[in-house]
Amino acid sequence: MSKRTCILGIETSCDETACAVVADGTEVLSSVVASQIELHARYGGVVPEIASRAHIEAINTVIEQALSKSEVEPRQISAVAVTCEPGLIGSLLVGLMAAKTIAWIWDIPLIGVNHVYAHAYAASLDTDPIDYPAVALICSGGHTSLYHCQSPTELALLGSTIDDAAGEAFDKVSSILDLGYPGGPAIDKAARQGNPNAIQFPKTLLKGDSLDFSFSGLKTAVLYYVNGVPGEQRRRKGRSKFLQVSRPRGIENFSAGQVADIAASFQATVVDVLTTKLSRATRRIAPKSLLLGGGVAANSLLRSEATSLAEELGCTLRMPEMRFCLDNAAMIAGLGYSYFRMGQFAGLDLEAHATVRR
Ligand code: KG4
Ligand code: ZN
Repeated sequence: MSKRTCILGIETSCDETACAVVADGTEVLSSVVASQIELHARYGGVVPEIASRAHIEAINTVIEQALSKSEVEPRQISAVAVTCEPGLIGSLLVGLMAAKTIAWIWDIPLIGVNHVYAHAYAASLDTDPIDYPAVALICSGGHTSLYHCQSPTELALLGSTIDDAAGEAFDKVSSILDLGYPGGPAIDKAARQGNPNAIQFPKTLLKGDSLDFSFSGLKTAVLYYVNGVPGEQRRRKGRSKFLQVSRPRGIENFSAGQVADIAASFQATVVDVLTTKLSRATRRIAPKSLLLGGGVAANSLLRSEATSLAEELGCTLRMPEMRFCLDNAAMIAGLGYSYFRMGQFAGLDLEAHATVRR
């Protein structure tokens, strides 16, 4: 048997401390993820300072576990790949320091990986390679973007969110509906009991055939639906013709069935916007494959709507396994292998960047 190339991947861009060992870019020998959800849940979102401290506490154990589960000896690791952008700067630095230390001590190459590109690669882990060209829709808590991909490492941005990310909208609306954190899985679950046509929330498609996204108006529409429009009371007194809906304010005044209807209607609107843009990009590029990636790619409605869209457009839809939708290090090690083959290595002065520079 020919020798496999094993890459150790490290991911700490947000609130997951993760390490994985992947052979030849696809075979996941181990993937360990230490989630910080419990630490951030009481704040309803990720607190950057808490995240970086938690990474420091978890990183050594997570690396040890990933190595031991992979049953690969350190001397069999060919390179260490690490997320260097985009992400929370304090969190990125923890992973970067760990990766640099390993590269230096084991005397192996260091590879810097873009987290969002890695999400676009995740659909090929533990399965067949992706057929390029492809159009990738990456939606997570921090990003919502469409890419034209010529290969795992050649991605051209087609459009991205001009305000909130899709996952961020799920998290904020879940908080308005008092469904808990993280919001995506909670809304996905509540929506199963609701009517997606119950409420017509605004669908922001932006001008012409734009491939950018905007979710902040939708989030505000849900907030107003639940809590009332600011100043509504005053207007009611003065000009009764504006008195259209008389409803007590606050989510505690809605029944479980009504909350499910709001969740289902909100989710249907987000998914409609995402698939409309995916369809526009696909018609423009005529790719062989459609790729989904990022935490929101775990959404059950998005997965089923994207399946129908791919059938309609005659493309192959590639969706990551659930465990590779959310942040993980297998996607970092997997994509790192492409750079390894290209000989594209970083120096020990590799920097972390909160935003992408291109
Ligand atoms: O990719 P990810 O783990 O982290 C970032 O890079 O941001 O994505 C996390 C996001 C969160 O906003 C979470 O609410 C969302 O993915 N998410 C979902 C679902 N599962 C996770 N959104 C919609 N439906 C889901 N089932
Ligand atoms: Zn992510």
